[in-house]
Amino acid sequence: MIRCMLHPDHKLRHLWDFIIIMLTVAAAIEIPFRVVFNYPLEGYLRVLAYSYFIFFSIDIFLNFRTAVSVEGRLITDPKYIAKRYLSKWFIFDLLSAIPFELLSEQFGGGMEAAGMARMARFLHPGIFRILSLAKLVRMMHLFKFMSNWQRHEVLNPSILRLLFSLFWLAIIAHWISLGWLALETGNPEKSEIDNYIWALYWCITTLTTIGYGDISPSFDSRPQMIYTMFVQISGAGMYGYMIGNLASILANIDTARAQFRERMEKVSTFMRNHDVPADLQSRVRNYYNYLWDSRRGSDESDVLNDLPQNLKVDVALFLNRDIIQKVPIFKEANEHLIRQIVMALKPIIYLPGDYIFRQGDMGEEMYFISRGAVEVVSADEKVVYATLSEGSFFGEIALLLSSERTAGIRAKDYCDLYYLDKSTFENIIQHYPDFEAGIRKMAEQRRNELNEN
Ligand code: CMP
Repeated sequence: MIRCMLHPDHKLRHLWDFIIIMLTVAAAIEIPFRVVFNYPLEGYLRVLAYSYFIFFSIDIFLNFRTAVSVEGRLITDPKYIAKRYLSKWFIFDLLSAIPFELLSEQFGGGMEAAGMARMARFLHPGIFRILSLAKLVRMMHLFKFMSNWQRHEVLNPSILRLLFSLFWLAIIAHWISLGWLALETGNPEKSEIDNYIWALYWCITTLTTIGYGDISPSFDSRPQMIYTMFVQISGAGMYGYMIGNLASILANIDTARAQFRERMEKVSTFMRNHDVPADLQSRVRNYYNYLWDSRRGSDESDVLNDLPQNLKVDVALFLNRDIIQKVPIFKEANEHLIRQIVMALKPIIYLPGDYIFRQGDMGEEMYFISRGAVEVVSADEKVVYATLSEGSFFGEIALLLSSERTAGIRAKDYCDLYYLDKSTFENIIQHYPDFEAGIRKMAEQRRNELNEN
């Protein structure tokens, strides 16, 4: 609450909007039905009619009392808000709040009884019934909700778009069918629902341009013919638009997976064209499959590069929270050090049997194990000095001493590792002596063990 103003993103405001949208949809379905079939307002329909009146009226009041966000700035000035609302939605909201359907009962019958026959004829209940269609204008609010939901990523944006398009198609088909019934008496021996389904069937065959022609406008009815032509022309456009849209929406539902598949296919084709041996091809494919399973194929640096520094650090901290918790030397490190480390850590994956490096290589990185295990092996690969698992690190000796690798490292399982490059490592140990001491101690211990072997 700001100066008795509601915040547009307040939870209760969202809940209220949701109730309003549900009522609007109910009105969009039910009112045209009642206009065409003219059934009495009884039971829950009466409750619904009163709800439209009460809720839509309160909504007008709340719209005057809700702050608006303009170009990212929250505006709470009541005058500005009122002016903006009056010039935009107010008139539509007002029309939709007037309970024409209730007035149609009250006025028509009431005035006749009071002897005001002429007035009653002028204010014929049918006019009120038709005016109650003004509530349909409220459906325009749906576009605002849709963009709000998109902004808050309520659902995958493509799925949301798909559902929204299908919903609109259903509503429009509903309106067109009822429009047809308004011009055509239908079969009086059949129930209203049967007649409605019959009209819907006509509408769908026309909209989808199938047009069996088993139901066609009567030769004597000009309005029906004109209406049919209108539906045919707009139907062709709408159907084309929907099908085109559907294809692009379906293709976009899982962009990450589609992009990854494309990447994998490119690599597979390349390997086939260059006659890469079958077992190597299968290792590459295994790598990609594991990359997908473990991190959905995404390269986080692509995402991070787009962000400003502060967000970059927070996202990196979140993404690397696992490794920070698993590695004991990180747990003891202070916050500044952790921030520096997470920004520099790079993920990498190895398959079982892969060499991360061999004894005698020059050391350029230090590694941390997030998942899986590695073996520390001799140059001839026959002796396994140790097995390191989750939370351990390796490759520190060569960096500390600027020397060759004292042993080889082989992945035992599928391994998710993170590595730090040499320059970041040197920078960090210069500034954080405690961290350096911890690593030096471990390096010393390991070198002693190696010498004993
Ligand atoms: P580096 O010499 O850079 O490369 C090989 C790595 O294996 C080495 O750093 C250590 O991190 C690790 N290592 C060497 N000996 C042992 C050991 N006995 N136990 C665990 N790890 C070791």
